[in-house]
Amino acid sequence: MSDSPLLTSDRGAVRLITVNRPDKLNALNLATLDALREAFMAAADDSAVRVVVLTGAGPKAFVAGADIAQMKGLSAVEGRDFSLRGQRMMRGIEKMPKPVIAMINGFALGGGLELAMSCHLRIAADSAKLGQPEINLGLIPGFGGSQRLLRLAGRAATLELCLLGAPIDAARAQQLGIVNRVVPAAELETQTMQLAEQLAAAAPLALRGVLDCINVGGECGIEEGLEYESAQFGLMFATQDMREGTAAFLERRKPDFTGR
Ligand code: COA
Repeated sequence: MSDSPLLTSDRGAVRLITVNRPDKLNALNLATLDALREAFMAAADDSAVRVVVLTGAGPKAFVAGADIAQMKGLSAVEGRDFSLRGQRMMRGIEKMPKPVIAMINGFALGGGLELAMSCHLRIAADSAKLGQPEINLGLIPGFGGSQRLLRLAGRAATLELCLLGAPIDAARAQQLGIVNRVVPAAELETQTMQLAEQLAAAAPLALRGVLDCINVGGECGIEEGLEYESAQFGLMFATQDMREGTAAFLERRKPDFTGR
C-alpha cells in the first residue's frame, strides 16, 4: 500500500507508526485521521504489541497540523465533523490499553501537538517546535488542544499558546510539563526505543491498570478515583504477572512478564 499515509513496522513488541506525508510536513488530512484510527485499533487488538511509538516521516516534522488545504473549503457542518473525526481518533489513542509514546522529531503544531498530547508520554528532539498556531488562521484548536493542554499544562500556558499562536521550543515545552523528556535530535530514536523497550518488558496488565486509573482519575472526584484505584489494585492479584513480579523480587532475579 504505497499510497498509505502511514508506515507501520514492528521492532519486537514495539509497534512504530509513522505519519508519512513528509512533503506536506505530515499534515493530518481525513485519510490520515482515519488511517491512524485503524492503525491504533489494530495495535490495541494485537497481543504481540506491548507499546506503540508514534512519529512523523522526514527530518522536519512530527505533524505540522491539520491539513490547511483540505480545511480551507469546509462548511461549518463539515468543519464540526472534521473536528469530531480527529477528536474521536485521538480519544482512542488516549484510551489505548497499552502505552503510546510520541517521538517528536520536529514541528508539532496545531493538530500535531494535539496528536502528541493524546499519547501517554512525549519525548522530543531538542530541535522540535511545538504550538497551537490556529489563531493565525482565524481558527481555534479543534482536535482537543484547548482541553488537553489545559489539563496538561494549566490555564496560563494554554492561554499563552492558544491566544498568541507562537511556537515554543522543546526546552520550554518541558518546563511547562508538555513533554516528558528532551534529548539531542541525533539520539531521539535510540532513546525513544530504549524507553519503549523498558515499557515492553513491564507487566502489560499493570501498565493497563495505571493507564485506566489515570484516565478515570483525571476526570472524576477523589473519592471515586481512590475507589477505582483500589478495584484495579485488587484486580492485579488475579494476574500471573503479579505473582511472577513479587516472586522474582524475593528470589533476586529478573521477572518474566507474560501479560496473563
Ligand atoms: N497543512 C497543509 N499543508 C501544510 C501544513 C499544514 N498544516 N503545514 C505545512 N504544509 C505544507 C506546505 O503547504 C508546503 O507544501 P508545498 O511544498 O506543496 O507548498 C510543505 O508542507 C512544506 O511547508 P513549508 O511551509 O514550505 O515549510 P517551512 O519550513 O517554510 O515552514 C512551518 C514550516 C511548519 C512553519 C509551516 O509549514 C507552517 O506554518 N505550517 C502550518 C502550521 C499550522 O498552522 N498548523 C496548524 C494548522 S490548523
